[in-house]
Amino acid sequence: MALANANHNNLLTAKNDFSLVIFGASGHLAQLKIFPALYFLALKKRLPSHYAIVGFARSAMDDGSFRTHVAEAIRRHVEAVNEGVLAELLTHVFYRQGQYDDVGAYSTLATRLTEIENGFADDAVRLCYLSIPPTSFGVVGKNICAGGVHASGRSFRVIVEKPFGSDYKSAKEIQQSLVGCFAPDEIYLLDHYLGKEAARNIYYLRLVNPIVERILKYTLVTNVQITAAETVGLEGRAGYFEQVGTLRDMFQSHMLSLMALLTMQLVPREDLPRARLDALKNIYVPPAADLSGILLQGQYARSAQNHSYRDEEGVAADSRTNTFAALKLMTRVPRWQGTPFYLRSGKCLKAKETKIAFEYQNPYVTTYKLAPNRVEIILQGEAGMRIHLQTKMGGSEPSFRSLLLEDPLVCVGDCLDEHGLLLLEAINGKRDWFLDFEEALTAWKLIDPLQAYLQKPETPLTLYSCGEKGPKEVDEWIEREGYEWI
Ligand code: BG6
Repeated sequence: MALANANHNNLLTAKNDFSLVIFGASGHLAQLKIFPALYFLALKKRLPSHYAIVGFARSAMDDGSFRTHVAEAIRRHVEAVNEGVLAELLTHVFYRQGQYDDVGAYSTLATRLTEIENGFADDAVRLCYLSIPPTSFGVVGKNICAGGVHASGRSFRVIVEKPFGSDYKSAKEIQQSLVGCFAPDEIYLLDHYLGKEAARNIYYLRLVNPIVERILKYTLVTNVQITAAETVGLEGRAGYFEQVGTLRDMFQSHMLSLMALLTMQLVPREDLPRARLDALKNIYVPPAADLSGILLQGQYARSAQNHSYRDEEGVAADSRTNTFAALKLMTRVPRWQGTPFYLRSGKCLKAKETKIAFEYQNPYVTTYKLAPNRVEIILQGEAGMRIHLQTKMGGSEPSFRSLLLEDPLVCVGDCLDEHGLLLLEAINGKRDWFLDFEEALTAWKLIDPLQAYLQKPETPLTLYSCGEKGPKEVDEWIEREGYEWI
């Protein structure tokens, strides 16, 4: 009861009135994630009485048809919608149509925003959310400033949803164009994995449990595995994904963010961005005669139940885009010296699971055949923390059975979905779980040469059946490394 009360008092709410302009308001991400997140914030009473959600996109809509569009997206992606809450939310929703390169449309938007914000408190915040392809970040950023959307006299933030470009060079260009307009601390780069409670918990599990922190180190752990398996395929996103592939879509951001949280120095929360950046800078591709021993790629093929990647609408019949990648990395952080980190992620696999697994050395003095100790932190799927030990069975000749300690590790308390949590934090000006450009650029530096290797026509691309566990070559590879996937 005391715990429930404590949580109730600490609920995270938007501290200020705000207007949120969503660029790309008719797109996939807005429908799938942003509108449902706003609905849940309204349902859980986290929003102030004065706020506005203003869609801006090229599609021809007015306030009324945009409200219908938002309502339909929420009903499609949320179970058992509370229609009263939805109807109230829609009274805060507005729309402006415009071309991204038409500065006049931004001036009209700025005027409309001022009208809508009439009655908002003086400390109200204005936010622009760029849920658009990275090729448009520069022009939209420039026009937000040129059209006067930025210069409202209110606190301002621009939220930029990943991908942050397609390589180091394009990310640098995006940085230059945004920094030309916004102050660095007005820019919030959003990797939604850093909004997942389970991902944040990697840091907190380490921070508050000396037991955990002590056993995560090279003297005990033989290898670390980070897996992000998805069941979904393209979901109509060929226009984006065909140009990108899994290495850039999942590794440049999410997978490296997870590895950074695991390997970074433990610091107080406000120093998290610096610690993550240091961790990223310490990650390296281990030396190898050639990259084929470090990096593998695959693409999903037809199976009895599912079609192949190349059959997806908008995908070239001879596409070599990877939908699966596996990569070996290491870090110069002393506590992990020499330990291989195996990262793999793919689409159209058997089960949705995001998991970090540590495998431990066998005891030095033993002739017994034992399964190695393991610690698993499962972030998505059948979430939980599992510690696999061995315990003696009865009898004078010792034999052993597995002992499993586990906790479902589900979020308890003030649990919000990742976009809802990050939105509230952006409104409140809390930046710890957003990236800055240095982090994004450091990640691209690591990924660029790997991507160049994958793009070579002679680099193998192995096919795997959609709905199965991924390319068998990836299993054979880790066996050659002396391990098996956990
Ligand atoms: C996105 C990628 O960033 O993350 C998608 O663009 C991917 O391709 C998604 O499906 C996975 O996120 P989650 O939260 O479902 O693990």
